[in-house]
Amino acid sequence: MEAAEFIQTYYRKRKGTDSLKWDALEERYGAADLLPLWVADMDFSVPESVQAALAERIGHGVFGYSFTPKDYFSAYQGWQSRHEQTLFQAEWLHFTSGVVQGIYDLIACFTAEGDQILIQPPVYYPFFDVVKNQKRRLVTSELIETEAGYRIDFEHFEKQLKENTIKLFILCSPHNPVGRVWEKAELKKLLSLCQKYDVLVISDEIHSDLILPGNTFCSALTIAAELDFLDHLIVCNAPSKTFNLASLLNAHIWLPAENLRKTYQAWEGLHRQTGISVLGQIAAQAAYATGDEWLEGLLTVVEGNYQLLKRQLTTQIPKIKISELQGTYLAWLDLRDWLPSLDMKFFIQDQAGLAIDYGEWFSPESKGFIRINLATSAETIETAVNHLLTLDHKLKGGI
Ligand SMILES: Cc1ncc(COP(=O)(O)O)c(C=O)c1O
Repeated sequence: MEAAEFIQTYYRKRKGTDSLKWDALEERYGAADLLPLWVADMDFSVPESVQAALAERIGHGVFGYSFTPKDYFSAYQGWQSRHEQTLFQAEWLHFTSGVVQGIYDLIACFTAEGDQILIQPPVYYPFFDVVKNQKRRLVTSELIETEAGYRIDFEHFEKQLKENTIKLFILCSPHNPVGRVWEKAELKKLLSLCQKYDVLVISDEIHSDLILPGNTFCSALTIAAELDFLDHLIVCNAPSKTFNLASLLNAHIWLPAENLRKTYQAWEGLHRQTGISVLGQIAAQAAYATGDEWLEGLLTVVEGNYQLLKRQLTTQIPKIKISELQGTYLAWLDLRDWLPSLDMKFFIQDQAGLAIDYGEWFSPESKGFIRINLATSAETIETAVNHLLTLDHKLKGGI
C-alpha cells in the first residue's frame, strides 16, 4: 500500500480520546496547544482484521477470567518465520502487561539491591528508572557519535565490565532513540563480552518489526544460540509498538534457559498473581496472523515521513543534523549547531510549539537533541517542519 493510501485509511484524530500523546499535553508540558510528536505510539488505527477480532469478542460481552488462546504461539511463530525469522519456543514465553513492567520484574527477580546494571545512553529513559527506582546501581557506557552514525564504544563497554561487577546489561535492540539496527557483528562482540564477564543480558526488542529498507534485524537470541550463551539471555518484545496496541497491556518475556525459567517462575509465584489481558491477546494473535500488509504500509509511511523531514531540514536548516533512521519510527535530531543556546523548552516548545522528547531525557550528554515521532500523517510532519522553519526565521531576525 502506498503511504498516502495508508494514511488516508488508518490515520485517526485522537484528541478527546484520553490519548496520552494528544490529551495530556497540559499536564506533561504545561501547554495544551502544542503539536504532539512525543511518546512512542502511532496516530493510526490497527488493521481491520484486528478490529474485527476485538469487535467479535466484545460483542460476546463476557470478560471473565481467560487463558492464552491455543493458537497464540503458532500465530507468533508464523509471524517470525515471515519476518525476523528468529526461532522461539512456546515454553520460553511468559506474559507481562508491558515490556517496562517486565524489565522491572526481571530486575527484581534476578538482581539484588546494590547490584550494578549497565545501560547504553542515550537510551529509552525508563531504563534509568528501572535501575534507580529498585535501588540497583546504574553503570553506563555511552554510545559514540561518528561520521557514520552511532556506534558502540566496545573498549569503554569492556572497561565498565572489567572495573565494575556488572550483574545485568539491558540492551536496546533496535536502539531507541538513535534509530540503530545493530548488526550481527556488533551484537556478537557485545554478547561475547557479556559472556566473558558472566553478565546476564535482557534484550529489549520491542522495535524489532520496525525496520527500514536496507536494514536487517537480528535478535540477540540468534547470536546467543551461536555463542552457547542462551542461559544468560532474556528477550522482551511485544506486539504493542508494531501494531499500536500499548494500552491493551500484552507483552512477552522469553526465557530460553531452564535455569532462568525456574527462577522466574518461582519469583512470579510470589509476586504476580493476575492473569493475562484477553483483549490484548486476541488483538495480538489477529495482528500476527494477518497484519503483514498493514505493517508494510506503515513502514512506507515512516520511511516517507523520515525522508520528508530529512529533505526539508537538510535543504532549509542544514545546521540541524538528523541521524540515519535504520529502525523504530523515532527520528533523532541534533540541534546544537542551530540553536543559539540550549534552552530547549524556550525554542522548541514556547517558540516552535512542538511537544517532543528532549535529548537529556535519554542522556545528560544529549542536551540539544530532540526525538520526533514519525508514526503520524505526512501533513503532521510537514506542519512540524513549518514550525521549525518559522523558528529559523525568528532566529535569523535575532529573537
Ligand atoms: C525500547 C522500549 N522498550 C519498551 C517500551 C515500552 O514498552 P511497554 O509499553 O510495553 O512497557 C518502549 C516504548 O517506547 C521502548 O521504546
